[in-house]
Amino acid sequence: MKQRPISTLGIDFGTSNSAIACAPNGEAARLLPVEGSATTLPTAIFFNAEDRTTHFGREAIAQYLSGTEGRLMRSLKSLLGSALMQEKTAIYDGLVSFEDIIARFLRELAVRASRELGQIPERVVIGRPVHFVDDDPKRDERAEESLRHAARAAGFRDIAFELEPIAAAFDYEQRVTKESIVLIVDIGGGTSDFTVVRVGPDRATRDDRSDDVLATSGVHIGGTDFDQRLNLERVMPQFGFRHTGPQGREVPSKVFFELSSWHLINWLYAPKAVRQAKELRTSYSNTRLHDRLMNVLEERHGHRIASAVEAAKIDASVRDAETEIDLSCAEAGLMASLSPEDMAQQLATPLENVIACAHTCVKRAGLRSNDLDAIYLTGGSSALRPFQHALRKSFAGATLVEGDLFGGVATGLACVTRPGRAA
Ligand SMILES: Nc1ncnc2c1ncn2[C@@H]1O[C@H](COP(=O)(O)OP(=O)(O)OP(=O)(O)O)[C@@H](O)[C@H]1O
Ligand SMILES: [Mg+2]
Repeated sequence: MKQRPISTLGIDFGTSNSAIACAPNGEAARLLPVEGSATTLPTAIFFNAEDRTTHFGREAIAQYLSGTEGRLMRSLKSLLGSALMQEKTAIYDGLVSFEDIIARFLRELAVRASRELGQIPERVVIGRPVHFVDDDPKRDERAEESLRHAARAAGFRDIAFELEPIAAAFDYEQRVTKESIVLIVDIGGGTSDFTVVRVGPDRATRDDRSDDVLATSGVHIGGTDFDQRLNLERVMPQFGFRHTGPQGREVPSKVFFELSSWHLINWLYAPKAVRQAKELRTSYSNTRLHDRLMNVLEERHGHRIASAVEAAKIDASVRDAETEIDLSCAEAGLMASLSPEDMAQQLATPLENVIACAHTCVKRAGLRSNDLDAIYLTGGSSALRPFQHALRKSFAGATLVEGDLFGGVATGLACVTRPGRAA
């Protein structure tokens, strides 16, 4: 079979989900299947300690949930730009840095792309949020550099970056029939990113689009922060968060913050952290709560609980009804509940900050909200009901267009023609 020339591979390396797309010369960009027929791969790696194999995506999560001995890593992108990036962590074949782990994940995406395309594309455009790290340009730069290193270690040679909301705008542009000014809203697992862009069928063919990007803004708030907040407020009190001990003092809260943060859970399983958690027992009046905490740490159920909270968030949002969170891994029959009202209340402050960031973007573009022809929604968390309520209220009268929540960024990245930097 004659191979077609492959131009660009778009990689959306997401906090929660990753996707890849390709635009073989001259053709429309399309998402590639990455796990069975699915075009998203949850950004998860499981290092199976029993047979020393590595697993990715849904398969990684399923292995962890089935109780297989090993380590699950999720939300790796949240570590970019942090000091933890260079730390080594133990997996079955020795100590590896988080940068190495990200490289392994990107390498796997490349292998899966080559299965579909017959070869690994030479050129890659990787998405990046407007800010990896808020208000710290140095750390932000370091985050992009780490991702570039990881991409190079994964075998890519010609590497370019594009802002995720700009990529989403390119995807949206494929569908517009007339020139419009649009606010692109991308609310993912880790960040909320905004762009005001001018799109249109005549503009899509231009090489240089910098004049059409009127403004960008971004804030480090996303679905994993919503999970963290709901976990802390609805679940962690059952393990001792805000529980008063015999001396009238609350149990030190650090462990609860870490246990509810996707990217920090693994640190709590280290022998030192488990020992410190054991020592908290004297801070509890009700030691049953401490037993639950220790069950979770010793049996490594942290990701199971975080997944149950995330599932409850999505369920309460989709059905607009109260839902239960199963905590039986900590104690037989233990449950927590989440109602749509609880959720709206708990998430009100982070959502206000997200909406404020959307207004900043419109203001930076020199526009008012009623100058927008449409607001285009992408990213899984843009489906969150309390977010959509808040957005509708704040941008009254604007037309909301719901896009491809999980594939739009990758598709748009594959359309980027700007040259990359050789690695
Ligand atoms: N129906 C839904 N309602 C609310 N949230 C949802 C829904 N479906 C998925 N999510 C949330 O969307 C997030 C994942 O979205 P997405 O895959 O767009 O993020 P990402 O691209 O991995 O992250 P980022 O772009 O921030 O790096 C998760 O936090 C998930 O819980
Ligand atoms: Mg995303």
